[in-house]
Amino acid sequence: MAEASLHKAKVAIFISGSGTNMAALLYASLIDGSPYDVVLVASNNPDASGLEIAAAEGIETFVHSHKGHSRDVHDAAMEKALLASGAQYLILAGYMRILSDEFVRRWESRILNIHPSLLPKYKGLDTYARAIAAGDSHAGASVHVVTPELDAGEVLAQVRVAIRADETPDSLADRVKFAEHQLYPRAIADYVSRGYNPDYLYDRIRALALTLPEAHCRDSHGSPGFRVGSEKSGKFFAHFNDQHHGSEHIAVLVKTSGMDELLGLIEAQPEVYFKPAYYGASGWIGLILNRPGVDWAHVEQWLQRSWRSVAPAKLTKLQDIADMF
Ligand code: GAR
Repeated sequence: MAEASLHKAKVAIFISGSGTNMAALLYASLIDGSPYDVVLVASNNPDASGLEIAAAEGIETFVHSHKGHSRDVHDAAMEKALLASGAQYLILAGYMRILSDEFVRRWESRILNIHPSLLPKYKGLDTYARAIAAGDSHAGASVHVVTPELDAGEVLAQVRVAIRADETPDSLADRVKFAEHQLYPRAIADYVSRGYNPDYLYDRIRALALTLPEAHCRDSHGSPGFRVGSEKSGKFFAHFNDQHHGSEHIAVLVKTSGMDELLGLIEAQPEVYFKPAYYGASGWIGLILNRPGVDWAHVEQWLQRSWRSVAPAKLTKLQDIADMF
């Protein structure tokens, strides 16, 4: 967490109503060590009481009523405020407007929502009544990534809330809110700091590396690595380093064509590349992963190139053919 707090993410929160989840997120952000700051609270509802809570804490607020505006015009006004705030993430906390598909695509993987059900159950409205009517033992809440399809993006975290005898939708809603207030700040903290979490970064590298033909894992000098070819005679094409040899970087090491290219890349983009201890001398370059704005398509290209540079000809030929389609 120490590393994450050095890189505080900026988040904006959209609300439509009482904003109790926004308040939970805001006060969590004011505790030492929070990996995010709230830079904007915005609403489509001028009467949303959460706006006053935010303003009292010195957070910038913005209101633009949706009434009398098309979805596109309203979304554009909200997005303008969002961009002006410098937010890197948009958190929906009881924002009862559906964002246009284009808006959601522009902010892909950067919009999160909380929904009062155990998704994939009970998307949409009336979730409490539906859970009670179904005779479920538990209701709950889910934090998920927002995609164009309603309440259908990847679920990041959930909390379960027991449904009691004689439960009403209102009584259940009250307890689900308590649970949401615990869940949301923690889920957001995890999400915005995962780019600094070695386990998350390793899982992503591993998933990319192992999609390459005949790739397998093998530790080398205490770090996980990836080889191509047989278990016996395979060759390394990538190494994962978590702050290895005193480096501050979490990185994947891949093979360049040699020292000229390696030094040229580091000089041109020192925020992206570095020369790793020991491996650097033989042309391995470090791609820094614990930094804002990692381009994962670029990381994937490097893994492919590095794989290709050591893979047996029979595999690269097959890959050439596959690439033509
Ligand atoms: C929350 O319970 C949240 O899960 C729900 O609105 C409430 C907002 O309360 N969101 C949805 O139903 C989204 N589909 P709040 O304004 O007090 O945070």
